[in-house]
Amino acid sequence: MSDADVELEARLEEQEAFEPPASFVDQANVSDESIYEEFEENWPDCWTQAADMLDWEREYTEVLDDSDEPFYEWFGDGTLNASYNCIDRHLEDGNKNRVAIKWEGELGETRTYTYQDLYREVNEFAAALRELGVEEDDVVTMYMPMVPELPIAMLACARIGAPHSVVFAGFSSEALATRMNAADSEYLVTCDGYYRRGDALDHVEKANEGLDAVDHGVEAVVVKDRLGDELDHSLKGNQYDWDDLMADHLGDRVDPVERGAEDMLFLMYTSGTTGKPKGVKHTTGGYLSYVTWTSHAVLDIEPEDTYWCSADIGWITGHSYIVYGPLSLGTTTVMYEGTPDYPARDRLWELVEKYSVDIFYTAPTAIRAFMKWGSRFPEEHDLSSLRLLGTVGEPINPRAWKWYYKHIGGEECPIVDTWWQTETGGMMVTTLPGIGTMKPGSAGPPLPGIDARVVDTNGHEVDAGRAGYLTVDKPWPGMLRTLYKNDERFVEEYWEEYSDPEEDEWVYFPEDGAKIDDDGYITVLGRVDDVINVSGHRLGTMEIESAIVGVEGVAEAAVVGGDHEVKGETVYAYVITEEGYDESEDLRARIIEGVEDAIGPIARPEEVVFTPELPKTRSGKIMRRLLEDIANDEELGDTSTLRNPDVVDDIQRKVREP
Ligand code: WT7
Repeated sequence: MSDADVELEARLEEQEAFEPPASFVDQANVSDESIYEEFEENWPDCWTQAADMLDWEREYTEVLDDSDEPFYEWFGDGTLNASYNCIDRHLEDGNKNRVAIKWEGELGETRTYTYQDLYREVNEFAAALRELGVEEDDVVTMYMPMVPELPIAMLACARIGAPHSVVFAGFSSEALATRMNAADSEYLVTCDGYYRRGDALDHVEKANEGLDAVDHGVEAVVVKDRLGDELDHSLKGNQYDWDDLMADHLGDRVDPVERGAEDMLFLMYTSGTTGKPKGVKHTTGGYLSYVTWTSHAVLDIEPEDTYWCSADIGWITGHSYIVYGPLSLGTTTVMYEGTPDYPARDRLWELVEKYSVDIFYTAPTAIRAFMKWGSRFPEEHDLSSLRLLGTVGEPINPRAWKWYYKHIGGEECPIVDTWWQTETGGMMVTTLPGIGTMKPGSAGPPLPGIDARVVDTNGHEVDAGRAGYLTVDKPWPGMLRTLYKNDERFVEEYWEEYSDPEEDEWVYFPEDGAKIDDDGYITVLGRVDDVINVSGHRLGTMEIESAIVGVEGVAEAAVVGGDHEVKGETVYAYVITEEGYDESEDLRARIIEGVEDAIGPIARPEEVVFTPELPKTRSGKIMRRLLEDIANDEELGDTSTLRNPDVVDDIQRKVREP
């Protein structure tokens, strides 16, 4: 490094606040600070600003119906269609030749869909789904990697009013079956395989295994042939080839179905505290308004932009900010099939340069990996097209933030650190890029109209600098409406903790810890429930534990998150063997396999520690906090309240010298 570079590093390291560059502010979609006040004074009517970004079939007359809290309804008497809003209206506006989706496969092949192309394919697939028997309100499951057919299938479902439930392609066959069973889903769209680091992966085999475990009749399965001759697969009785169906419906058109604002747009299963994933229900009017508004206000998306979110559509980030938000705004959204380090560690920067990407949205775990690989990879490319950067999924440490700011943004792009969840539908806490001072490590203030606070266990706001719990005191249009077929668990999981139903006070609890500073900036500290975050993927420790105790030879298991430089957290499994079984390498391998089978490779334990006992409180609860401290080699504090304090030394020794 030159002297000037060293000086720059030192200055950056100390700098705690960053102003958005004037060049950005001048063109920002939102640049007037009064928006915060305006939304506060005008709540809930302020949300018409979001809803009015959409084309409604029938205008709504009521913004918020809170007569049955916490079952809120937004724009309830309006009707619309999400596929119409993401496609048709852009054709009418004269933008049919604008690129909607730029897709790049891992091996370098590309596909470009204009809005007109997207219109054609979505209509044809919607016609095909109808012919297969899909009716309004039937849940269609999708188990697909990052191929254009995934958003096409989602939008085709939206067109005919059939909610989709997308299952991340990296999940196991068992995870697929669990979700299809929970949603009573009788239709599946999948694909034969995809490329990962140059290898053709068989996906349809996993899909078929999952289908074998579905507990009800499956009407039809559509399989996209992604790999061609690379992989032979045969179709079974109720299985149809995507391309054949599309050929049969060539030129077909399907009128967008008029959906009520509160009708379900999709379900998304996510991990919670218990072993069973939760089916988060999002609606057509509120969700689409909210992701459109936040894509405009926070991601600063303009129709002329090329926008790239490197998440997978199998997670909520991809639903909201690859598919629905960007397409609703009529912009160009980039989709990349593969991994950031294939064929080389500059792949993402190569794509930014190739497509002149304006806005780039990724996760801290990716940024930490880029940082580890070194700045020479981005330096090989011209990244000057970038105007705005974003992160999501987990807290970003100031060092990673600054690396991103300097080496990707060239110190000229604001960074939005966006806190939100599957359940919130869209972004909740972040700076507005044309307004807010950025403080690395802190997400920022709540968005206009969002009443997020940091409170103590009694629900009182904590002083600046003190750790507490994040809560949201007012509803917002993008919020989940319930957990599929489980209103009771919805109330229990998110509302019981801080609400006072007798006083008619309803407070949403996202189960995150946080701090707030004197300027009202919120720093999110992480989950306070038994959910861990591995490479930005949310995993329930109970789900992993139940997979482990299902392995022959395991008596009991406890799973916690251990700190990891790149992944954020990794899975640590503490296991007690059953009598008659050795703490063997064979058992360790079967445990890892058991987790991969039940959930997927993302949940694979990094460490399996055999122990004769688990530390338990007198009432018999496993002290996870303690196991976490052991995993992270931290000071343990008082262990005297344990029923079995002696076990702690044993476990500690085993973790240190496995
Ligand atoms: C959990 C939600 C939102 C899409 C991706 C994850 C953590 C998310 C941030 C952030 C600190 C964050 C929280 C949250 N999280 N964004 N900017 N700073 N933590 O969605 O799988 O529903 O997970 O991710 O702990 O509760 P998800």
